[in-house]
Amino acid sequence: TVLVVDFGAQYAQLIARRVRELHVYSEIVPSTMPVEEMLAKKPKAIILSGGPSSVYAEGAPQAPDGLFGTGVPTFGICYGFQAMVSALGGTVAKTGLSEFGRTEAELGTDSVLFGGLPAAQSVWMSHGDSVTEAPEGFRTVGRTAGAPVAAIEDTGRGLFGVQFHPEVMHTEHGQDVLRRFLYDGAGCRPTWTMVNIVDEQVERIREQVGGKRAICGLSGGVDSAVAGALVQRAIGDQLTCVFVDHGLLRKGEAEQVEKDFVAATGARLKVVDAQERFLSALAGVTDPEEKRKIIGREFIRVFEQAAREVVADGGAVGEEVEFLVQGTLYPDVVESGGGTGTANIKSHHNVGGLPDDLAFTLVEPLRELFKDEVRRVGEELGLPAEMVWRQPFPGPGLGIRIIGEVTRERLDVLREADAIAREELSRAGLDRDIWQCPVVLLADVRSVGVQGDGRTYGHPVVLRPVSSEDAMTADWTRLPYDVLAVISNRITNEVREINRVTLDVTSKPPGTIEWE
Ligand code: XMP
Repeated sequence: TVLVVDFGAQYAQLIARRVRELHVYSEIVPSTMPVEEMLAKKPKAIILSGGPSSVYAEGAPQAPDGLFGTGVPTFGICYGFQAMVSALGGTVAKTGLSEFGRTEAELGTDSVLFGGLPAAQSVWMSHGDSVTEAPEGFRTVGRTAGAPVAAIEDTGRGLFGVQFHPEVMHTEHGQDVLRRFLYDGAGCRPTWTMVNIVDEQVERIREQVGGKRAICGLSGGVDSAVAGALVQRAIGDQLTCVFVDHGLLRKGEAEQVEKDFVAATGARLKVVDAQERFLSALAGVTDPEEKRKIIGREFIRVFEQAAREVVADGGAVGEEVEFLVQGTLYPDVVESGGGTGTANIKSHHNVGGLPDDLAFTLVEPLRELFKDEVRRVGEELGLPAEMVWRQPFPGPGLGIRIIGEVTRERLDVLREADAIAREELSRAGLDRDIWQCPVVLLADVRSVGVQGDGRTYGHPVVLRPVSSEDAMTADWTRLPYDVLAVISNRITNEVREINRVTLDVTSKPPGTIEWE
């Protein structure tokens, strides 16, 4: 295990993921954890994350006592680097030379961290304070214009530090630097794979659930399918998967879940038709957060009902239903404000949208993973490629893609338009080039058009094709004009209520992927 000590960084999970990409298992721990507890996890290496504070701000998190005398190879990044320097007697000062964003660095290639890499590199910086003097025993192996000491190492003690962020994509050779620390500095071996993740999670789920029953909410999306398959592998017939048709689904969705998921996993499936229930709860509601909260709450009410029925049926084995399995991913947690000190951007239905009186204990085996990792777990579990590689689809479904009130008629209109867009994107072979392409209905907007010599006064839809690595950031996808033209023609010809197709050319940030 590699421990990533979290000082309140936006990037702690990203560091953990980069380490996993190097096939070394990693886990995040809070910076308040005592060193003995860390050592009990038998770490091969420790990485200290960045953080928002200045090391001498009041209440700034400190490195736990004794951390640098353990003999475990340790790598400080940004704030973690400064915390290391100040704990060991070096100098961190306000030089007035802050650096944010892309910065040119000069690196010592005779060092452990940068051996074999270019001596001049672009790195991603984000700091106000700077280290001006390395602690005794360290060699300075990197500098930038604003940071005279931008990288240090003491190979004797196994201590390393960098001011920049090797974990972000914008640091050209960042992953190489992490690799050099892990393999060369700490002697880790690349032995951890998706097979381990599956085995470990199966163990953990068995421990958590014991002899009880669980239900798993399937949404038709990738995440819940993978979570369900994983739990199915762990507890078999103690699990019942519940697929809720809330009326906000895409065309063909329900049929696909019934067919593909059951065939691949052999899981027990219960389909609940809850269209009436969701639509009447959503009647008259236009506020996005309100919609999300309603949908999150209604999901739980349906699961409660389903749980009672599962027990009454006597079908599944085990004691009463106590557990609810959800395919929550790390980005869902962060956007719902669940990270350390992160803001609530929108309430994902399975995190911020949960009602307060939740009676289930949650099982969320994917909570620390990113989408691409989940897809690899899905492949490992034998789910079909069409299921694993399909576009992400949010639990609240088309309900958050109708801007304005959600009604059955509007859903039917959007469903048709969405099916056409998906069909044409697949036909053009673009499924793996785009992350997803929501189609959004601007239900309260009308515009004038002309069709077959007559005036029309219909609604616009927006195509929102995006490319992304993990949905935390995204860019709009430059789809070929020909494909856009076919989609536009077909939607305006085949869906009577729509007379205009527009394209959203906003990245995330500042936009989010979904419109609500
Ligand atoms: P945003 O709109 O926040 O979306 O940029 C990021 C990714 O998350 C999906 N999404 C959700 N998924 N429940 C989900 O299961 C939700 O409430 C939810 N909201 C957004 C979205 O489709 C995109 O892939």
